[in-house]
Amino acid sequence: MSHRLPDFPSVPALLQEFESDLAQAKSPRDAQTVRDKWLGRKKGEVAKLMDSIAQVPPEEKKKIGRLANELKQALEARWARHLEVTEATARPADAVDVTLPGRVPELGHRHPLTVVRDRMEEIFTRMGFAIVEGPEVEDEWHCFDALNMPADHPARDMQDTLYLATPIRGESGRAEDVRTLLRTHTSSMQIRYMQAHQPPVRIVVPGRVYRRDDLDLTHSPAFSQIEGLAVGEGLSLADLKGTLLAFARQMFSPTVRIRFRPSFFPYTEPSAEIDLSCWQCDGAGCAMCKRTGWIELGGCGMVHPTVFEAVGYDAERYTGFAWGIGIERVAILRHQVEDIRLFYENDLRFLEQFPY
Ligand code: DAH
Repeated sequence: MSHRLPDFPSVPALLQEFESDLAQAKSPRDAQTVRDKWLGRKKGEVAKLMDSIAQVPPEEKKKIGRLANELKQALEARWARHLEVTEATARPADAVDVTLPGRVPELGHRHPLTVVRDRMEEIFTRMGFAIVEGPEVEDEWHCFDALNMPADHPARDMQDTLYLATPIRGESGRAEDVRTLLRTHTSSMQIRYMQAHQPPVRIVVPGRVYRRDDLDLTHSPAFSQIEGLAVGEGLSLADLKGTLLAFARQMFSPTVRIRFRPSFFPYTEPSAEIDLSCWQCDGAGCAMCKRTGWIELGGCGMVHPTVFEAVGYDAERYTGFAWGIGIERVAILRHQVEDIRLFYENDLRFLEQFPY
C-alpha cells in the first residue's frame, strides 16, 4: 500500500489551490505572479517539491518524484488553458476604444495660387465675364501671327519661346508646317475664342504660360496669367480703366487708385501698363512699391484692328479691350511673398500659412 506523506497534499487539492489563486488575479501581471509561485523554476512549489526529494528516505523518492511530475503537468495544462482563455477574450489590437477622445481628421486646403485665382475669377464673373480655358500647347499662328506678330516682327523676341519637337496638324491638315510651342501668354485664347464666337465678348482666361526663363526670386519658366477680353460696339479705354479699377478695389483695397502708363503690345493700340497706387503707404513710398508709390500689375490696351481682321470681326463696327495679369504677381502682392519659387515647392511650412 502506498502511503501519502502528510506534508504533501494530493495533486487535485493543489490544483484547486492554484485555481483559486488564479481566480483572484486581477491582471495578466497578477496571473503571472501566481504562475511563478507554483511553476517558478527555483522557488515555485513544484521546484520545492523536487528539491525535497533529496531529504526523504529512498523508498519515498520515487513517489514524490511522480507526485511532483504529475503536479507540474497538471499546473502547466491549467496555465495553458488560462492563457488561451485570456487571449481569446482580450481586446483585439485594432478595436475601437470608444472612451478615447476623438481624433479630428486633418483637412487640406487650396494652394495659395488657387485661392488668388478663384478670387480673381469671382470678381470678374460678378462683372459679367465668363471663364474660359484653352490649350497650353499652341501653334505659332494663335500665339503670335494672329496677334499681329508676324515671324519677322521684333516683338516676337520679347518673349523667349519654348518650341516643341512634335508638330500638330494645322487647319490645312498638313503637319509639317505647323510649329508647336508652349504658349508664352494667355493672349492666344483671345484668338481661339473670337474665332468661335461672335461679339459681344466678355471673357477671362486663367491658365499656365511658359517662357525660357531660369527660375529665380522673381522669374519662373512656368507661371500663370489671367487674360481679359471684351468686345462690343462702342467700348472705350474708359471702360477698360473702370473694369480694372473695380477689380483692383475688390482685390487689394477699396481706396486704391489706377494709372495707365503708355506702353507697347502689338495686339493693342493704344497699349498701357497698369499701375496701382500702393495700398500700403498710399503713394508715400515704401518697400512694397520700391519707394515709387505705384505698383505694376500687368499690361492692357484696346484690341488692335489687325487682330479683329485675323479672326474675321468687322474692325469698323467693333472695339474691344484686353489685359493680361500675372496670378503669381497678384499673390505676391496680396501676401507679401518675397520669392516666387515658394509657390512651386510645395513646402508645407509655407503652404500652411494660407489655410483658406
Ligand atoms: N500678353 C502680355 C504678356 O504676357 C500681357 C498683355 C498685355 C495681355 C496687353 C493683353 C494686353 O491682353 O492687352 O506680357
